[in-house]
Amino acid sequence: MGTEKPAGKFIEWTVQYSVGNQTIDDQHKQLFAITNRMFEGLKGGETKATLFKTFEDLIEYTRYHFTTEEKYMGSSGFPDIEEHKAEHRKLLAELLQLRDKFEKSAEIVEIDLLEFLLHWISNHILGHDLRYVPFIKKGQNAE
Ligand SMILES: [Fe+2]
Ligand SMILES: [Fe+2]
Repeated sequence: MGTEKPAGKFIEWTVQYSVGNQTIDDQHKQLFAITNRMFEGLKGGETKATLFKTFEDLIEYTRYHFTTEEKYMGSSGFPDIEEHKAEHRKLLAELLQLRDKFEKSAEIVEIDLLEFLLHWISNHILGHDLRYVPFIKKGQNAE
């Protein structure tokens, strides 16, 4: 049956990633889109300056996303917020480290970077973000 993946997509948002909140789902989709842009840029041999700019976009958007998520978690009474925030800080620190490595040598970091992006996005959403879903849903119902 017609279930081919669209060509060239590195990582694709599917309903398994849904946290049941439109704002957060949209932000996750945006993170996937920037990650795909990075992948396509690396594959397509874009200049280092362009790739670096995409990387900066990813970092900036990640910061923005984490802030939004932490606000939702804070107002929903999610009990493991501190642990989740620590995980965000760790991921951001890893991203910043990769950016520094990338600045020094684009090739070395290519594999690390793609692997990291793929894993942090899917593992973090599936392993951490999904845990706040029941709390955030309760908050939405109360509105
Ligand atoms: Fe998230
Ligand atoms: Fe998160």
